[in-house]
Amino acid sequence: MKVLLIYYTGTFNTRYLTEKIKERFIMRGDSVDTVEINAKTPPCDTFQYDLIGFSYPIYGFNAPLPFDKYVKKLKFNKGQKFFIYKNSGEVLAMNNASSRILLSTMEKRGGIFTGEYHFVMPYNIHFPYERDFIRQIFENNSKLADIMMHNLSNGIVKKINCNLIYKIGAFFVGIQKIGGNVNSFFYSVDKDKCINCNKCIKNCPHDNIYVKDGKIKFHHHCDMCMRCSFYCPTNAINIGLLQSWRVNGAYDFKGIEEDTSPITPYITKDSKGFYKCFIKYFEDIENDHAKIFGGETR
Ligand SMILES: Cc1cc2nc3c(=O)[nH]c(=O)nc-3n(C[C@H](O)[C@H](O)[C@H](O)COP(=O)(O)O)c2cc1C
Repeated sequence: MKVLLIYYTGTFNTRYLTEKIKERFIMRGDSVDTVEINAKTPPCDTFQYDLIGFSYPIYGFNAPLPFDKYVKKLKFNKGQKFFIYKNSGEVLAMNNASSRILLSTMEKRGGIFTGEYHFVMPYNIHFPYERDFIRQIFENNSKLADIMMHNLSNGIVKKINCNLIYKIGAFFVGIQKIGGNVNSFFYSVDKDKCINCNKCIKNCPHDNIYVKDGKIKFHHHCDMCMRCSFYCPTNAINIGLLQSWRVNGAYDFKGIEEDTSPITPYITKDSKGFYKCFIKYFEDIENDHAKIFGGETR
């Protein structure tokens, strides 16, 4: 089978997830190509592929605007099979509404839906996740990937249901899609911290950052992906109205992956507050996995 994975990523969680999913397809004997969407990505040729996988990080209960725009421009044959493997920092039910534009775009043009899967990845806003939590997330993601590959191989279509209230809620929160354009009027760089490495300029997926008279400046077409402030080596970028959301510094995914010491569960039956919503999410995946594989990880 020829598989095409098309994704948008801000701080590279979705790129990381895509690499993991790609490995799964290759292990199954498929050939896989990937396309990362940024401001300059031309619509790709999809006609040679048997299956397209779409992936994106959830922003304000929606898919990022550049992702939805890219899918609208995509050309494909009627009857094109596709699936979705999206990700986000938490598992609030309103996140279930995030694929509605993608699904309706594909449906209108005769795409055939073959399943949707919601992975959790570490937050790139508000606060960084603890290492033990990420280890548990990765263990869980591996099980969800097992389930996804099993379902795709056996023609089992997994839907993520969403009620109308959440769809309406997500529609209104969708206003944030243009929020970055407004917010970028308030971006600034702390000149005492900035080391002029220009990493933010090179990294920006939307060419929104430039240098003028030796100073870092911002245009006003920002996706709010946080890549600039997340990866700034000196934490010098002020992201305006969302400054309190800023998280700085890459997660050590490689180190976490290579850590073979026993995992201390971060989410337990007694988890409270913000962490409570992960209990059922993890349990459901655990149970589905056990039903299919009898408790063994593939
Ligand atoms: C502007 C913005 C809005 C976000 N909104 C949500 C959200 O509504 N729900 C959620 O669970 N996570 C939300 N997140 C967290 C991201 O979905 C999550 O960290 C994701 O893994 C980032 O993927 P990336 O590194 O590929 O960009 C948001 C992140 C950003 C930057």
